[in-house]
Amino acid sequence: MTFKNIPSHIAVIMDGNGRWAKKRNLARIYGHIEGIKSLKSVIKTAIKYKIKYLTVYAFSSENWQRPPEEVVSLMELLDEYIKIELPYLIKNKIELQFIGNIEKIPEKSKSALLDAVQKTKNLGGLILTLALSYGSREEILNAVSKIAESIEKGDVKVKDISGEYFSSCLYTAGVPDPDLLIRTSGEYRLSNFLLYQTAYTELYFTRTLWPDFRGKNLVAAMKNYEKRIRRFGKTHI
Ligand code: FPP
Repeated sequence: MTFKNIPSHIAVIMDGNGRWAKKRNLARIYGHIEGIKSLKSVIKTAIKYKIKYLTVYAFSSENWQRPPEEVVSLMELLDEYIKIELPYLIKNKIELQFIGNIEKIPEKSKSALLDAVQKTKNLGGLILTLALSYGSREEILNAVSKIAESIEKGDVKVKDISGEYFSSCLYTAGVPDPDLLIRTSGEYRLSNFLLYQTAYTELYFTRTLWPDFRGKNLVAAMKNYEKRIRRFGKTHI
């Protein structure tokens, strides 16, 4: 499969794990376990097509309100995923990054994450960002506080607060805005994910549940993206 234009940054809301499990009379965690297989397949395909950035919503700031046993299992899965996948990440030069308030993440999973981030730094391949304990409004508020503090200290002047400067204060500093955002499972909303960064992102919604979403589904989304005409608010030429 060849493409005329390939998105440089793809963001994914991996939704529908619970429904996938429910349909099979399984506990929700089995949906998340299958969801990891989908993530691995999508990463492999992203590498094949030389996608530069892949950002996935793994755990939102609101997800802490889920039943404690699901939260504990998800954190264990995170720890397990990172430990098992680290050699693959390194071999394939994948740089692991995260966005979100990871202070809330249990120590074991947090240290596995920080260790993997350190060990995959500057490898030069796909930049895989896990959004963990992430909420976009919190991210924006955090940026506003940082900027206000810098102004208060006299490090920055109000007239110097450009869009570029603002972006550099977000968790996603240094990562370009997504070109394509995919949400699975037939829900049509952003759910507090990258609200500032998706101003001109192309949106792709599919009814496929995340555990059923594999590399070939990513290719279908990229095929759809290829047909989009991006104007960024300008007139069509
Ligand atoms: C949304 O489905 C999915 C999540 C809240 C977790 C996403 C996690 C994974 C894909 C696996 C874990 C990934 C890592 C990196 C450890 P849902 O549970 O809201 O599904 P539902 O809407 O059908 O209930």
